Amino acid sequence: MQYGYFDDQNREYVITRPDTPLPWINYLGCQAYFGIISNTAGGYSFYRDARLRRISRGRYNNVPLDDGGRYIYLRDDETGEYWSPSWMPTCRDLEQYTCRHGMGYSTIGSKYHGISARTRYFVPLDETLEVWQLTLRNDRLTPAAISAFSLVEFCLWDAQDDSTNFQRNLSIGQVEIEDGVIYHKTEYRERRDHFAWFACSDPLSGFDTQRESFLGPWRGWDKPAAVERGKASNSHAHGWSPIGSHHVKLVLQPGETHQIVFILGYHENPKDQKFDPPDSQTVNKKTVKPVIAHYRDLANVDAAFDKLRNYWDRLLGICQVVTPDIHTDRMVNVWNAYQCMATFNMSRSASFYESGIGRGLGFRDSNQDLLGFVQMVPERARERILDLAATQLPTGGAYHQYQPLTKKGNNDIGGNFNDDPHWLIIGVSAYLKETGDWSILDEPVEFDNQPGSAQPLYEHLRRSFHYTLERLGPHGLPLIGRADWNDCLNLNCFSDTPGQSFQTTTNKEGKVAESVFIAGLFVLAAKEIAAIAQRRGLDEEAKKYLAEGARMEETVRQHGWDGEWFIRAYDDSSQKIGSKECAEGKIFIETQGFCVLAGIGLEDGRARQALDSVRKHLATPHGIVLQQPAYSRYYLNLGEISSYPPGYKENAGIFCHNNPWVIIAETMAGDGDNAHDYYSRINPSARERISDVHRCEPYVYAQMIAGRDAPTHGEAKNSWLTGTAAWNYYAITQWILGIRPEYDGLRIAPVVPERWQGFQAVRKFRGVTYRITVRRAGKGNAVSMTVDGKPVPGAVVPPPAAGKTEVNVEVKLG
Ligand code: GLC
Ligand code: GLC
Repeated sequence: MQYGYFDDQNREYVITRPDTPLPWINYLGCQAYFGIISNTAGGYSFYRDARLRRISRGRYNNVPLDDGGRYIYLRDDETGEYWSPSWMPTCRDLEQYTCRHGMGYSTIGSKYHGISARTRYFVPLDETLEVWQLTLRNDRLTPAAISAFSLVEFCLWDAQDDSTNFQRNLSIGQVEIEDGVIYHKTEYRERRDHFAWFACSDPLSGFDTQRESFLGPWRGWDKPAAVERGKASNSHAHGWSPIGSHHVKLVLQPGETHQIVFILGYHENPKDQKFDPPDSQTVNKKTVKPVIAHYRDLANVDAAFDKLRNYWDRLLGICQVVTPDIHTDRMVNVWNAYQCMATFNMSRSASFYESGIGRGLGFRDSNQDLLGFVQMVPERARERILDLAATQLPTGGAYHQYQPLTKKGNNDIGGNFNDDPHWLIIGVSAYLKETGDWSILDEPVEFDNQPGSAQPLYEHLRRSFHYTLERLGPHGLPLIGRADWNDCLNLNCFSDTPGQSFQTTTNKEGKVAESVFIAGLFVLAAKEIAAIAQRRGLDEEAKKYLAEGARMEETVRQHGWDGEWFIRAYDDSSQKIGSKECAEGKIFIETQGFCVLAGIGLEDGRARQALDSVRKHLATPHGIVLQQPAYSRYYLNLGEISSYPPGYKENAGIFCHNNPWVIIAETMAGDGDNAHDYYSRINPSARERISDVHRCEPYVYAQMIAGRDAPTHGEAKNSWLTGTAAWNYYAITQWILGIRPEYDGLRIAPVVPERWQGFQAVRKFRGVTYRITVRRAGKGNAVSMTVDGKPVPGAVVPPPAAGKTEVNVEVKLG
């Protein structure tokens, strides 16, 4: 069953009924001002940091699920009837409801009693504001007297404080109202130099800024008293709960259309010019007024929207494909790339499942996210790499997260995850391959943001590598620390206290528990850093890295192989985890994927064997589960992984992030059928027709799909912010379609299903547009290539002569 359809032409997902199984959201903003918006206009906005600069409130994890947002109410002033054109919060029986989620905007429209209303929500490029562009049309045969009310509830900036410290907050809310603009200035009187504002393009017939005056006592968003009586009360918030609501009255003739624009913005003033006059307590509005005036003009709003469209056309134009599979095309050309941008911007902080309070940008997560978006915004990837590296500790270890606003690392979600440092090597090498910008390695970057500690970025990579060498366990495998990629495999934790965080609680100084996963990651990182060293002319150093990598590979062969698959880890008493000797958790996905991805076992048949074991023990129609059998009870020596009921999250859920590791591994083993088959099992578009089972958005990946041990097998959860986005994009574009940036050019090495007769692609790479046509000539994956009509040996398209910006590549596959 479906709740909508893809409009491929317009790059929109069109939701055709408001009561989706879960709120289906989109992101507004892609630079500094962001918001999440659901298909019923729920959600909230923030400037840069979803915790420390939260502008508006959404009431997440509530009932109904999606409560609070960017609401508009319409009222028929003759009958007194009122409704929300976005369905929530009044939930009337709307006609012709559609929500079009597009690239950086959402348009929600409906019709009710002959009045059509469509609201386009978006954040203009280079601005710190959002626009709600409401178009009303009277489809009746008689004139219609209509009242429109806007509604936003202000969050008092620190989202954490807002939900915990109301003994203070209920007394500090402040607003100003001037020329119909509502200025939200809580805490501006003291240390803040920023405020929010909410403006409207039409003359007002009233406004409200105090929630209780708008709603009336004992009422919710579904029956605001102001709307019911058709009159705002011009309330002025003093403490309690500031809101912004404009009231506009209109008469629409039959067939008449009218547009109203509501604009919600964030603005900063220089510290010494906060007030106007200077010795007053009145917000200085000199620099914000021109912005407000600009967007009150409808022509400017349309121009801003066109600019946003062009921006996305350009970004998505970097890689476009036509394959025999519509789901592949859709994800590659539009949605997967788009999701990669969201994960780059948000990391794991703000979604329908992440509160925006708990997590900033993760070190491991953000480095992996680079794989998916570096081609789109290389300048921002560069900045992100340098920011991440500056939170690395002098030991080579890393803070697990940093706050986007301060860019400082912190231990709020734990530390000592021993895989962390290597992701920096993986991220930087992806950046170098895409851009060829070697200068980044010489950028001075501090350790732990400490002044005076700066060293070239390259030195950071060295320390990442050495971090593991200094932390090897009894078998010569890397010590796991608090956990590796799998946050929940807590082998040094031994937590028996209810509620204690597995992520942050004091751990045993583990000198025994080892991770085969980190070993695989290390082998891959060794190859990457060696290639970088070589290109810097450091041959001896490169050899050392390769030798260490080879040694680790040998260790994995000896102590990390279980006969038919790779072991997962050794626990604190040196017992195997992920082995046939275990009662539960006999086989894990991570090491099968990652060890092969690192090249281990490709020559001696173990890779194939490990992948066959994945197919036999872990693959389900809904994707590949994380391990089997699921842990049926809590194991003190394993930690959080066994805290989840079987089939959910890390306990044998389909943790989509690691499925692409197996997909890539399959391509490395040469099996395009298997690779694309796994790819399709979790491809959201391919799952659209089972939306009633999948339940999350059919246009983006979710972190998890319930595994076969769960009663809800196939149900997705935690959509949008997941490493799945970057890894799947990387897997499909660079490994299945095989269009792979390398240091010396673009490699074309497709490993596609045997039945595919070919495909076409346009890929922009280092300023050159490559038009690629692949035709199948036989069964295998061997490539023979002509470039602009001339045969070229190998599979790497060499960079064209200077000045040439278009290249035609014809590939025969067989
Ligand atoms: C979450 C975390 C990620 C971790 C994964 C597996 O997605 O953000 O860092 O690797 O879970 O535990
Ligand atoms: C929990 C989740 C895991 C996440 C971690 C960090 O352990 O299961 O997926 O990465 O929290 O917040």
